[in-house]
Amino acid sequence: MPRFLFDFVEGGADDEVTVRANQQAFSDYTFRARTLVDVSARDVSTTLLGQRLALPVILGPVGLAGLLAPHGEVLAARAAARLETIFTLSTMSVCTIEEVAAAGPAPRWFQLYIWKDREITRSLVERARAAGYSALCLTVDVPDMGNRERDVRNGFVVPPRPTPGNVMDLLLHLGWVLRMTRSPRATFGNFADTKALSRRDAVSVAGYTSRQFDQSVTWADLEWLRGLWPGPLVLKGITTAEDARRAVEHGVEAIVVSNHGGRQLDGLPASLDVLPEIVEAVDGKAELILDGGIRRGSDVVKARALGARACMIGRPFLYGLAAGGQAGVERVLEILRKEISSTLALLGCPRLEQLDASYLRGPHSYSKVEDRSHD
Ligand SMILES: Cc1cc2nc3c(=O)[nH]c(=O)nc-3n(C[C@H](O)[C@H](O)[C@H](O)COP(=O)(O)O)c2cc1C
Repeated sequence: MPRFLFDFVEGGADDEVTVRANQQAFSDYTFRARTLVDVSARDVSTTLLGQRLALPVILGPVGLAGLLAPHGEVLAARAAARLETIFTLSTMSVCTIEEVAAAGPAPRWFQLYIWKDREITRSLVERARAAGYSALCLTVDVPDMGNRERDVRNGFVVPPRPTPGNVMDLLLHLGWVLRMTRSPRATFGNFADTKALSRRDAVSVAGYTSRQFDQSVTWADLEWLRGLWPGPLVLKGITTAEDARRAVEHGVEAIVVSNHGGRQLDGLPASLDVLPEIVEAVDGKAELILDGGIRRGSDVVKARALGARACMIGRPFLYGLAAGGQAGVERVLEILRKEISSTLALLGCPRLEQLDASYLRGPHSYSKVEDRSHD
């Protein structure tokens, strides 16, 4: 894919300290494996908001996934359905809410940003509801856009605008250019017909979003949202026990412990490192999902052992999408499923449901472990 797109996906805010921390945090934990356990029958399935998932990994919301492959969001949604898991559609997608809903019957979540223009927000929520999305995921960590210096350097704008550097980049990636001629559009699909974005308006992604998102949103707005959305509400972007407690007080059904993959506030700790305080604060009153830095099945097992019910992935499935379309995303999920299963076998813990912190050694694992038998 062209350099400006790769950088948009791979990069993060400022010095990308949090991007690196997310992945590093998993290696701060090692396993405490049990031997001579019957692991001949393994189960990596779970439930999330009452929905059965074949593996504890769901696809997170990513803006502009449709620039990585024509109809990218539709392809990723189909892949998630094939692997019996959830696809989350970003507000900032290329394919529309309705196009993705038509991808087939499957559980899908819609991720929302609250716009200054509340009518736009209301209409997005109503469209998601009418199209049968099963949960609303409100992202709360973008009151302003993270400073993504790679995008600034590359002049990344939507729709793509030719600069000498970009033209060179595109000439070196003619395969992508040709593939994208099959794309329905090269901009934010959900607004293509509204005044919020006219097709001729080439705007930097950062500039566009910081102009449109409502910076005055507070906890009080959750009540307003509840009035529009009767289904489960998920808050994405919580990194402290205090916020997690407030989320529970406001009755949210699930929390995504997330620093937006290090793309917003650089200097936030790794998601995995804040998980234990949030598990404690939430005390089972909401389901927890962790994202940021998941690259292997063993990472998912570690997050689950520390109390996350499931993990979300962003970049990993985008690379699958760019490399192989729907089959590429399916392959990413298959690899993760296989690695989770094999980690459980080697750990002597045949069922995901049995995992707890006694299987880990590290900053937050139990120092004293009871003996437990699983047979
Ligand atoms: C290219 C890209 C675009 C993203 N766009 C959104 C978005 O529109 N809404 C959102 O809530 N999160 C967005 N995210 C954050 C992801 O949902 C997720 O939190 C993050 O990618 C997880 O980290 P990982 O990429 O290491 O798996 C985006 C991430 C990437 C890489």
